[in-house]
Amino acid sequence: MLSKLKSFGLQGIDGFLVEIETDLVGGVPHFELVGLGDTAVKEAKERVKSAIKNSGYEYPVKHTTVNLAPADIKKEGPIYDLGLAIGILTASEQIVNKKYKDFIFLGELSLDGTIKKVKGVLPMLISARSQGYTKFIIPYENREEASYISNIEIYAFRTLSDVVNYLNGMENFLYNYIVKTKSYSEIAKTTPNKLDFENVKGQKMAKRALEIAAAGGHNVLMIGPPGSGKSMLAKCFSGILPNLTFEEALEVTKIHSVAGELDLKKGIITERPFRTPHHTATTVSLTGGGVHSKPGEISLAHNGVLFLDEFPEYSRQLIETLRQPLEDGYITVARANQTITYPASFTLIASMNPCPCGNYGSKDRECTCTPTQIHKYLSKLSGPIMDRIDIHVEVDNISYHELSAENKEEPTSKIKERVDKARAIQLERFKNEKNFNNAKMSVPQTKKYCKLSKPCQDLMEIAFTNLKLSARAHDRILKVARTIADLEGTEEIQPNHIAEAISYRGLDRKYWSI
Ligand SMILES: Nc1ncnc2c1ncn2[C@@H]1O[C@H](COP(=O)(O)OP(=O)(O)OP(=O)(O)O)[C@@H](O)[C@H]1O
Ligand SMILES: [Mg+2]
Repeated sequence: MLSKLKSFGLQGIDGFLVEIETDLVGGVPHFELVGLGDTAVKEAKERVKSAIKNSGYEYPVKHTTVNLAPADIKKEGPIYDLGLAIGILTASEQIVNKKYKDFIFLGELSLDGTIKKVKGVLPMLISARSQGYTKFIIPYENREEASYISNIEIYAFRTLSDVVNYLNGMENFLYNYIVKTKSYSEIAKTTPNKLDFENVKGQKMAKRALEIAAAGGHNVLMIGPPGSGKSMLAKCFSGILPNLTFEEALEVTKIHSVAGELDLKKGIITERPFRTPHHTATTVSLTGGGVHSKPGEISLAHNGVLFLDEFPEYSRQLIETLRQPLEDGYITVARANQTITYPASFTLIASMNPCPCGNYGSKDRECTCTPTQIHKYLSKLSGPIMDRIDIHVEVDNISYHELSAENKEEPTSKIKERVDKARAIQLERFKNEKNFNNAKMSVPQTKKYCKLSKPCQDLMEIAFTNLKLSARAHDRILKVARTIADLEGTEEIQPNHIAEAISYRGLDRKYWSI
């Protein structure tokens, strides 16, 4: 007999429908799986066979042909096991009720018939819902991530026999398996802050720069000698970022779910990611892709922070791969005969010493490097990369007087209040558009929302000529000025906003022109 049922697969972070067709005919017992499956899918037949037998059902002694459609998209991972088992049990009439046709089945099987968790349940459910599918059978362990999607029926089962009993009409135990929808606001709360700005003495310039970055979503490069507090400041940064909205949280969770990095007990990610890949990281681990395509560090930082400490220590190739995501907010990775796009819209916080000894440009320490050494060190960061970083700020050593002062520094919570206000203005500004923040303004939007008065234009002209700015740097200065005006609650950009935004582009000249 022929049976047909539905499952789902993943391409990038989006799901696609997979139909599992199972045909049982007489003849020499044999199992044939067609439809572009990878090794994990091909190995499914052994797992499915054992799971069926060990759950007390009969494995048909027939010629079994299984087709995974559409045949032109590669199917990865063990996600189809449950669907394959149900296909065989329906084709062999051990499941007689026809309601299996209504469901989408997701789950890996272990040999004893237990249903094991799979990656990417949340993104698959979201895609399936948008395509009009409403009923799902998923692994019990994935129930938390599934519980934030409303208007669909989800059943989370532990074993193959539980699923078969349910499909055969034994519904009395079902209550335990219905996944109830949860509300995001119940669990979303302010990011618990590990390190508070009140512990960072002095460094007013750097704190101000980070506040602007958080308010408008701008990238920051901190340059300064060893031990001046750059890493410390970066660690405080995520505490002043606005809370994740539900839509942002779903995007973040989708990516982490596909990468298999989701905390299955929590289900949904409510804090902005803070990723700190080491400078020895490979390009693939940063960009994603690879044999078992999965999102890389820059996508795991989506809607959050990518912190690259000791920036020039990363390989030139790795730094250059940041160009596309820094401009477009996504990354495209090539795989055998296809390309995959992952979201990668993050705030880059980079920190570095200005030279190998670390003291070049310091007001009170002697630099022992030669100009050639300094040049070589700084040239790791190309012009196009520097151009994409809106805010460059010096973090010099603080004095003993500042370090030992008893006065309290401003706490994270106070700074966050101002950031939240500036973000509220931006949400209102972009309510009918796709952006969340000023940094993501398109060229027409920059024109529309960053109109300059004559004095502001004059200032821009002087800076453009003197600092030899690119057109991109010009637009980025406007965006930063827009954010500074928003922090002040001012509708129109003022000359002092432009002047401050320009001041964050002065370091290229100080350090990179030697
Ligand atoms: N402004 C500051 N206020 C209070 N403590 C500070 C400050 N700056 C540095 N420190 C202390 O110095 C330590 C080292 O700072 P941090 O690691 O942030 O320096 P860094 O600038 O990243 O140095 P490197 O260039 O060597 O990476 C901090 O953990 C903290 O104890
Ligand atoms: Mg450091």
